[in-house]
Amino acid sequence: MYRTNATTMKPSNGKKQVKPIKPFNVIVFGGDGDLAFRKIYPALFHRYADNQLTVDFSIFPVTRSTRKHATFKDEVRKFIAESTDYAVKPEVIDVFISRIHLKCIPEHELVNYEDLQKSLEKTPNHQNLYYLSTPSEAFGPICACLKHAGLVNSSSKVVLEKPLGNSLASSQEINSMISSCFHENQIYRIDHYLGKETVQNLMVLRFANHLFENAWSADHIDNVQITVAESLGVENRGGYYDNSGALLDMVQNHLLQLLCLIAMEPPSRLEANIVRNEKLKVLNSLRLFNKKSVVTETVRGQYTRGIVDGKQLNSYLEDIEEYESNTETFVAIQAHIDNWRWKGTPFYLRTGKRMPKRYSEIVINFKSVKHNVFSYEEIPGNRLIIRLQPEERIELVQMTKIPGPGGYRYKPISLKLDYMDSFNERFPEAYERLIVDVLRGEQTLFMRQDELEAAWIWIESIVDGWAASKQKNVLYEAGTWGPGEQIMKEDHMWSTSYSYLNDNL
Ligand code: BG6
Repeated sequence: MYRTNATTMKPSNGKKQVKPIKPFNVIVFGGDGDLAFRKIYPALFHRYADNQLTVDFSIFPVTRSTRKHATFKDEVRKFIAESTDYAVKPEVIDVFISRIHLKCIPEHELVNYEDLQKSLEKTPNHQNLYYLSTPSEAFGPICACLKHAGLVNSSSKVVLEKPLGNSLASSQEINSMISSCFHENQIYRIDHYLGKETVQNLMVLRFANHLFENAWSADHIDNVQITVAESLGVENRGGYYDNSGALLDMVQNHLLQLLCLIAMEPPSRLEANIVRNEKLKVLNSLRLFNKKSVVTETVRGQYTRGIVDGKQLNSYLEDIEEYESNTETFVAIQAHIDNWRWKGTPFYLRTGKRMPKRYSEIVINFKSVKHNVFSYEEIPGNRLIIRLQPEERIELVQMTKIPGPGGYRYKPISLKLDYMDSFNERFPEAYERLIVDVLRGEQTLFMRQDELEAAWIWIESIVDGWAASKQKNVLYEAGTWGPGEQIMKEDHMWSTSYSYLNDNL
């Protein structure tokens, strides 16, 4: 259905590839939001400081409330300074800041876009990148106003922050409004996990190493575990989070994208739609849940008060200042991919807030050897551990002989590749890579509409299953690994993953 239009990324064999970027304007709606200050402006700055943005460009933060230009710029400066862990000449920051031109658009009405229109018309040959970092209900009205103001042409692009709606129907509705103003090849649905270096390394790990690809199937892999644990709670995002929960906030996008990268077939070429076609096939092969399977194959939880390092942490309800809420802050799912490669290999997805430690990890648990020549016990299978953050590394756990007398005694030892130590370079933040990809028209790392819909269909089978089975949250104390212990006692399917988690952290 989709023809590919993106530039082909040729394998680089270690040489840096420099692809030209056309002069541009970035127009950030939600320009005084947390994401804009913490991620978007610093990302643009670091690419600029790294000499990647050598062309003419301007940044137009769009805010709804009136703000003073000078104080706004000071704020941007502060966030840039906080995000910088290397020496930058102050004049580099000054030049960057001078390219920021604040616009206040109180409501999404045509007349209010005139000022923006006048500014953008001064640079008719620039590509305009509209970054929508607002609640998704505003996406449609903003796009419609841009179109009416004549601000959308074939070189314009629109970047959409998640969540795109809160159900399949609402996301389709929002998408159809956006699609009436922009073509699919101008739409960039961002999932910042795909911009993380270690996540991109999954592609190289899988498709540049014959060793792994040969063993990458249910014939050899017993189960796959994808964990994204966060030590933070909901912070000041209670309003948004209470309507999403862990399932929509994390699983629907980040965890499913990780699952796709692990499970997809090798794409024939590294072109956006070829890669996305393969990811779509995985999403379409996910087994849907029903009222019964959701009870045995998913767990939802919510954090209560807890003590970490002697400090009392609030419960979720205290954090959102409500007396009750059925929103989950933890979710664990046993997913099945019903295709030839993965039939019989469960994928355990798990994410939660207020865990003891922030870490994201994928563990590939290989099957054990068919016959143990050393004793009658089963030999634990090899394990490939891909730590995405914070200590980026890859470990291959293999059985090794314990030296000395006493017969063939063996134990698991890890071969470790520390990603940071191996590459003595600054790792660009996910948003840096993603924004530059948008400027270059490279869509590989962005979700296509049909991928999003396939993800929603699977997620809704869980939401509907939870509603039909009236599944409640299992409470867990803040600062613990979630409702695992209780589940282990019940000899639930999670025991493999939880015992692993407890052994290893
Ligand atoms: C965001 C979620 O998409 O990802 C947040 O909305 C979450 O709730 C964040 O904290 C996690 O991102 P990272 O990069 O810190 O793992």
